[in-house]
Amino acid sequence: MNNMGDVNHTADCGVKYYTMDEIKSRNVSKEAWVVIHDKVYDITGFLEEHPGGEEVLLEQAGSVATESFEDVGHSTDAREMLTQYYIGELHMDDRKKGSTTEALITTSADGSSTWTTWLIPAIAAVVVGVMYRYYMLEHKSS
Ligand code: HEM
Repeated sequence: MNNMGDVNHTADCGVKYYTMDEIKSRNVSKEAWVVIHDKVYDITGFLEEHPGGEEVLLEQAGSVATESFEDVGHSTDAREMLTQYYIGELHMDDRKKGSTTEALITTSADGSSTWTTWLIPAIAAVVVGVMYRYYMLEHKSS
């Protein structure tokens, strides 16, 4: 029970969570970490191998590189390479919030809009039907 000192960083399933403060200090060629899609990668050993050069990686080291990584349009091979450097997850407090609440809002708005979009044409159809009936009756009597 003595080796529970690391419990703050380790979730139940054994995944490590890092805060941005820890990641920020890993921005030198001796130790370079980046965050891509909320996952933390230790790319120290990859700097010299990177086809896009060491400089661009060092510029991003110690920070969130998701946008730069996506802007380049990296190949599937490049995405698969990421797994070799995976060391853990970005701490929940440092993640960008918003995507889940947005999804909830869209779902509830969707429900009410289908109801109204269905009702308006139905009323219009009834009105047209009644008007047509009157028109036919008038036409017959004259
Ligand atoms: C840490 C994870 C990264 C890995 C594993 C990785 C891997 C690769 C690979 C395999 C290529 C060759 C082309 C391809 O297969 O898409 C490449 C090219 C490139 N990468 Fe990365 N990359 C990483 C991060 C980044 C970041 C953060 C940037 C931007 C700042 C970047 C900028 C570039 C550029 C500019 C090229 C050259 C594209 C070209 O010449 O067409 N890479 N990278």
